[in-house]
Amino acid sequence: MSTLEIKGLHVEIEGKEILKGVDLTLNTNEIHAVMGPNGTGKSTLASAIMGHPKYEVTAGTVTLDGEDVLEMEVDERAQAGLFLAMQYPSEISGVTNADFLRSAINAKREEGEEISLMKFIRELDSKMEVLEMDPDMAQRYLNEGFSGGEKKRNEILQLMMLKPKFAILDEIDSGLDIDALKVVSKGVNEMRGEGFGCLIITHYQRLLNYITPDKVHVMMQGRVVKSGGPELAQKLEAEGYDWVKEELGIEDETVGQEA
Ligand SMILES: Nc1ncnc2c1ncn2[C@@H]1O[C@H](COP(=O)(O)OP(=O)(O)OP(=O)(O)O)[C@@H](O)[C@H]1O
Ligand SMILES: [Mg+2]
Repeated sequence: MSTLEIKGLHVEIEGKEILKGVDLTLNTNEIHAVMGPNGTGKSTLASAIMGHPKYEVTAGTVTLDGEDVLEMEVDERAQAGLFLAMQYPSEISGVTNADFLRSAINAKREEGEEISLMKFIRELDSKMEVLEMDPDMAQRYLNEGFSGGEKKRNEILQLMMLKPKFAILDEIDSGLDIDALKVVSKGVNEMRGEGFGCLIITHYQRLLNYITPDKVHVMMQGRVVKSGGPELAQKLEAEGYDWVKEELGIEDETVGQEA
């Protein structure tokens, strides 16, 4: 079993504190969901874990099996087994999807241990089939001109090809049609198992009908303020966040980061 542990994480962006002490522990073989109002720092948490240079960690720790993730360079974090499916995936012109994936896989391997072209193609074909993707997508430039839903599906393709230990999926369900939601969920569920842990950031309980989380966390004002089981997501969907604020005595009308 592997463990990704976030303790007392404080993060600033351009001098403004966004995360104010996030605590969260994720093990392999577990799927956790993170929900919370807009602007409470969910994507910031994801970016900080992955080492986005704009996000400055001012206090706290992130460890992967006891190893300090914050000390690692961005590529070392990926090597160590961390993966982020971004809320807004970037387009890279001039690099095909297939080339990108193959380079990313080989970057995680020792020299001389590179994946063979045949094996790569076989694997790519089979994963694209699971995700019901048009085979042409492999030869298109990475995310360029992809529709919103196609980009999200492509993030899951990357996940399935790279097989990280821990994945953070930031609003992987936004913009997906109902069939695509099922297909993407199928992909994530296929990854489920002893070598894989997943943090799913979402606004909607609907996704969690397809991917049953072991735990659900609520983030507000830069902290995880409440955790529970799948029933917590159902209650949030039905009742919104007001009751959480009341329960915790959060008075601020704007749950986001307004000064
Ligand atoms: N690069 C940046 N510069 C300035 N402020 C930023 C930057 N990135 C994020 N923020 C601010 O940090 C706060 C948290 O943003 P974040 O994207 O983490 O929220 P979120 O919880 O993911 O929201 P959403 O549900 O809308 O995706 C917001 O107030 C946002 O404006
Ligand atoms: Mg976000």
